[in-house]
Amino acid sequence: MQSRRNIDIAPSILSADFSRLAEEIQSVERGGAGILHVDVMDGHFVPNITIGLPVVKSLSKVTKLPIDAHLMITEPGHYAAQFVTAGAKMVSVHVEADPHLHRTLMAIRSEGGLAGVVLNPATPVGAVEEALYFVDYVLVMSVNPGFGGQKFIPESIGKVRRLRQLINERQLNVRIEIDGGIDRSNIETVVEAGAEILVAGSAIFGTPDAEMAVKDLKNATVQWV
Ligand code: DX5
Ligand code: ZN
Repeated sequence: MQSRRNIDIAPSILSADFSRLAEEIQSVERGGAGILHVDVMDGHFVPNITIGLPVVKSLSKVTKLPIDAHLMITEPGHYAAQFVTAGAKMVSVHVEADPHLHRTLMAIRSEGGLAGVVLNPATPVGAVEEALYFVDYVLVMSVNPGFGGQKFIPESIGKVRRLRQLINERQLNVRIEIDGGIDRSNIETVVEAGAEILVAGSAIFGTPDAEMAVKDLKNATVQWV
């Protein structure tokens, strides 16, 4: 018997139909999504450009789900707190993008947001060892950031496990989020390893029925909740 855990499915709207975002969000709400994952890309940190502050502001008006802004941008310190003001409850910044991570995390918290740090696939767990004391969650990228629909990198599982061990040893209240290539085939393994926030884009919005897809992913984690 596994112990009870707080597990959330976090649909990534990157794979949604941008012309009908509000409807797409209503579908995943009906499916039981716990968090709405919003990918912010600047064309510098990652080779893609998506959406920013005005869209977060509009989305916060049409959903009760906490918005999780995943900032894939250079100089995140200039913008992170503004995302909280715009309506994001959770804001995460890449450890690779910020030499003043502590300052940025504190800025997110001082606006009332939950602060997260993100690791790219080749960034070791050790890079966030100290940051663990200052974050509410760690996001492990299980693909290279920039695009939806990529293949899950299996080595991410060991990374989640090592992080979970560190967090437990220190008795910290830090959640682990995983993002990239999550679907029905690997969701149980990543939860078993210690992930609690499960981002999925194409596995939800790439199907004909987003509501059903969320329910399906949730069902796969039911033994832990
Ligand atoms: C990738 C983004 C992800 C992406 C996930 O850079 O951070 O959130 O939308 O999409 P899937 O689930 O299709 O890999
Ligand atoms: Zn993301």
